[in-house]
Amino acid sequence: MTIFVTGGAGFIGSQFIRDWVALYPSDTVINFDSLTYAGNLENLAPVASHPGYRMVRGDICDAEAVHKALPEPCDALVHFAAESHVDRSILSAADFVRTNVLGTQILLDAARVKHVRRFLHISTDEVGGSIPDGRLFSEDSPLAPSSPYAASKAAAEHLVHAAAHTFGLNAIITRTSNNYGPYQFPEKLLPLAISNALEGRPIPVYGDGLQVRDWIHVADNTRALRMVLEKGRAGATYHIGGRNPRTNREVLRMVLRILGRDDNLLTPVADRLGHDRRYAVDCSLIERELGWRPEIGFEEGLRSTVEWYRENTAWVSRARSGEYRTYYQRVYGEQLAS
Ligand code: NAD
Ligand code: DAU
Repeated sequence: MTIFVTGGAGFIGSQFIRDWVALYPSDTVINFDSLTYAGNLENLAPVASHPGYRMVRGDICDAEAVHKALPEPCDALVHFAAESHVDRSILSAADFVRTNVLGTQILLDAARVKHVRRFLHISTDEVGGSIPDGRLFSEDSPLAPSSPYAASKAAAEHLVHAAAHTFGLNAIITRTSNNYGPYQFPEKLLPLAISNALEGRPIPVYGDGLQVRDWIHVADNTRALRMVLEKGRAGATYHIGGRNPRTNREVLRMVLRILGRDDNLLTPVADRLGHDRRYAVDCSLIERELGWRPEIGFEEGLRSTVEWYRENTAWVSRARSGEYRTYYQRVYGEQLAS
């Protein structure tokens, strides 16, 4: 197979590529990524010299660059590239609209012109907005995004539907809950909390810390994405959840217990504006149709994740200092410089 992955240098995309190359070493995987602050080629060091893997530095909003890089024939385009951090979208939303909305449309156009066989669009449970207690967000629930990030992801979903409906593009949407695992940029809750706890520094808890997220290990997510690519129904939307709802405080206390640190590192700070209280995806469709279920228990997944950050403090400090941004120059020379 030939697959074209966007945003493969980020947290989930890099896990997807590392897994894919290990499982299907004779496939061709092209990683198209503009390497924003969230793109880190160190995440792909294990596959960088694999003959079937190729990195192309490019922006999904640049139609010409996308057209040039997208091969024909192409079996699948897996679209991860996005601005993904809610707090940043509250500070400034324009980049979110540009990449998440315009960038998605440019990829849809290119996929049509190049006759891509399957377009897998990676979306989020946040498009459903905050879900009241006792209810679940299912694939046919209305979209009610609350943050600029979630609104841009919801807009992208509409464009994917429009391309499928109008032009018959073979497209599938997945909406995943909160992923955790190795190589996550330390601005998101878990890598930030683990790294701070390792250094004995305070962990910011937004508001009362009783917001609920459904945590899924990133490797369970990428396994689901492979199943969707292989067996998913064209036109379908699949929810991928961990069946593991927890309050932020509960998750943070687990981290501190694993590290043998005191709860007094938890430091209440001002709440996120418009903070969604609860996400809760109904993932029974993918379980029923494709036989997927999360396999990594939270206690076990969290322990191994904490261990990874403990063993990779150098990765974290390079991510925090910005030094990781020179990695591609060191490894690839000027080849990738834009
Ligand atoms: P991330 O922020 O870690 O990585 C995003 C990647 O996209 C980076 O490598 C970045 O360089 C690249 N990128 C950004 N703008 C680009 C552009 N204009 N052109 C090309 N590349 C660009 O994100 P992530 O956490 O790995 O999330 C991946 C996808 O999954 C996103 O679409 C996100 O909305 C979705 N998602 C994430 C989660 C989660 O918990 N992390 C949950 C559900 C859905
Ligand atoms: O639900 C899926 C979404 O999960 C993805 O679509 C997003 O790309 C991803 O960033 C994530 O969004 P969240 O806003 O849920 O994740 P974040 O790690 O930013 O925050 C998780 C929860 O922790 C949220 O309730 C806010 C809170 N929080 C976050 C940070 C960074 C804190 O209390 N303190 C913090 O320092």
